[in-house]
Amino acid sequence: MIAERVQRIQPSFTLEMTARAADLRNNGVDVIDLGVGEPDFNTPENIRQAAIRAMADGHTKYTPGRGTLELREAICKKLERDNNLDYTPDQIIVSNGAKHSLSTLCQAVLNPGDEVIVFAPYWVSFPEFIRLADGEPVIVKTITEDNFSPDWNDLESKVTPKISAIIINSPSNPTGAVWGKETVTKLLKLAAKHDWLVISDECYERLVYDAPFTSTEALNEVGANVVTIQSLSKTYAMTGWRIGYAAGDAAIVSAMAKIQGQATSCPNSIAQKAAVEALTGDQTEVETMRNIFAERRDAMIHRLKTVPNFSCTKPGGAFYAFPNVSHYIGLTAHGKIIDSSFAFSDYILDCAKMVTIAGSGFGLEGYIRLSYATDEAIFLEGINKLEKALSDLN
Ligand SMILES: Cc1ncc(COP(=O)(O)O)c(C=O)c1O
Repeated sequence: MIAERVQRIQPSFTLEMTARAADLRNNGVDVIDLGVGEPDFNTPENIRQAAIRAMADGHTKYTPGRGTLELREAICKKLERDNNLDYTPDQIIVSNGAKHSLSTLCQAVLNPGDEVIVFAPYWVSFPEFIRLADGEPVIVKTITEDNFSPDWNDLESKVTPKISAIIINSPSNPTGAVWGKETVTKLLKLAAKHDWLVISDECYERLVYDAPFTSTEALNEVGANVVTIQSLSKTYAMTGWRIGYAAGDAAIVSAMAKIQGQATSCPNSIAQKAAVEALTGDQTEVETMRNIFAERRDAMIHRLKTVPNFSCTKPGGAFYAFPNVSHYIGLTAHGKIIDSSFAFSDYILDCAKMVTIAGSGFGLEGYIRLSYATDEAIFLEGINKLEKALSDLN
């Protein structure tokens, strides 16, 4: 009695690794988890207080399906303040996290057989949203040694009339790469020429370390059809509150609202009130968290440079490093060959008791993802253990 569409998708790879770490911990093993995909800070106090007030004041009922007008207005102000974008509330939909906005968007715009360009390495859920909406992901390579920027030749070779959309994810999960304005502008031009919808996943937009972030839509001089996806999860350490949103063409947003209204009625009313405070209240803690992430990034990259035969480009954003570990693929550990990045991650979990996420889960062999959303002393201890485990490979 299980539907065919379930066979089409993969379980969440990153959540599976986290579950394996939890199993080990339950068995008393002291595990260092560099697989984490969420900030290790608590949600700032003013936001938590706003939720308490919301409950006390009775904001505990269904809200409009696409989110309260109050929150959608706050999002418009935020988009203007931080991203220099001009939207009206009818162009905004609030969902149960950006993940929900993205999957609803795919349901709203894809017809069976439509193809969507996804750059590898990609966030694990992109291909699955597309497949769930009866579309086909078309995986395009990136130039790993050039900040994981698009491989234009590969992209050109994959253009067909079936392509209807393209996903841009900068800063990227898993690489942390932030694409430059020229790259995004070139993609916008291509999208406008071929009439592709541009889905710009900007969940990590406030976690950039080297230059101010520019939203894709802010570069859209060619008039491409862009849907901007942002989230409160990473910026405000609010992953469990489940608030994200999409901003774009009013007709697309209305189509999404029609689906969302039937699927979930509305996002959580209390979390919406807290989100208004997050977006319009004091932003000092966002900057404090960003500065801590920036310091950790520098510490992690500095340390990874000294790990023999690892190479790692400096990520401009998010909270991940994505080192190339391909030197170790093909080596042997205790008579067992490490034949993939998955086997490599598995070996590190066994020997160093540290969780890393294999690049193959993100569509790129020979790499692993290490998160620095954890204390610096902890990840440095983990990398020491990893280095020791590597010395046993031959
Ligand atoms: C690239 C990317 N997009 C979207 C999301 C989803 O975020 P949310 O918690 O808002 O659903 C994540 C979460 O890990 C992510 O890494």
